[in-house]
Amino acid sequence: MLNDSISRTFGGSQLGQGGRPLLPTLCLACALLALGLVPVQAQLGARPAEAWIKVLESSRRMENLKVDETVAELELNPGDRIADIGAGSGIFCSSLAKTVSPGGKVYAVDIEQGLIDHIANRAREQELTNIQPVLGQFTDPDLPVHDLDLAFMYDVLHHIEQREEYLRNLAKYLKPAGRIAVIDFHPQKGPHPNDPELQVTREQADAWMSAIGFKAANEIALFDDKWFVVYSRSER
Ligand SMILES: C[S@@+](CC[C@H](N)C(=O)[O-])C[C@H]1O[C@@H](n2cnc3c(N)ncnc32)[C@H](O)[C@@H]1O
Repeated sequence: MLNDSISRTFGGSQLGQGGRPLLPTLCLACALLALGLVPVQAQLGARPAEAWIKVLESSRRMENLKVDETVAELELNPGDRIADIGAGSGIFCSSLAKTVSPGGKVYAVDIEQGLIDHIANRAREQELTNIQPVLGQFTDPDLPVHDLDLAFMYDVLHHIEQREEYLRNLAKYLKPAGRIAVIDFHPQKGPHPNDPELQVTREQADAWMSAIGFKAANEIALFDDKWFVVYSRSER
């Protein structure tokens, strides 16, 4: 994880052969980290793109994802602009892209370049021209537009380390009536029951949302193991 942080913080161009940081860069990085002069940033539960794709598209997981039912609950319209935050292998992208057609667009955000490439290839194969992959940062999705109708986060928030900061930054890309849909696991029913670092409760999410001026606008009872809430701005 430290290596990952250092490589993210100092940029891939300073990596040596085989992805190993060059010694001087590593020493400098460690010194700065030790002095607290650079923030330690990480993805919780990180893994390489190939491993992510295998896990995300396993038949056991796919059985309980409810892709089309979930997208139907989002009340999307043709022409809408959506950000699929932490899009992973892009399982939700095609359903989202078809639902907002014609005229709409899906920005598929992830922090793993391998997943971004995978989504781009798949969109090309499926001839879905309204999916735009976006390489985000740990605390900011780095989107190219500021008029999103919806940001969609399925099984993602618990992987983000700085959750309130991420949500605050994400909100800047939404139009005033824009919404944030969050689906995450009830801690004891999810894949990390013994790891509090990889859990996010509905109550915690409500508190982070409240801190950035959002409130629960719709609670959707679609899953036994996950909570599903759509948030919108409190003052409108
Ligand atoms: C469990 S996967 C879920 C993927 C997809 N939403 C799905 O349900 O199939 C979590 C994804 O979040 C991504 N991720 C983790 N931290 C992130 C961050 N700060 N910004 C964007 N994506 C992030 C990971 O790379 C991974 O692809």
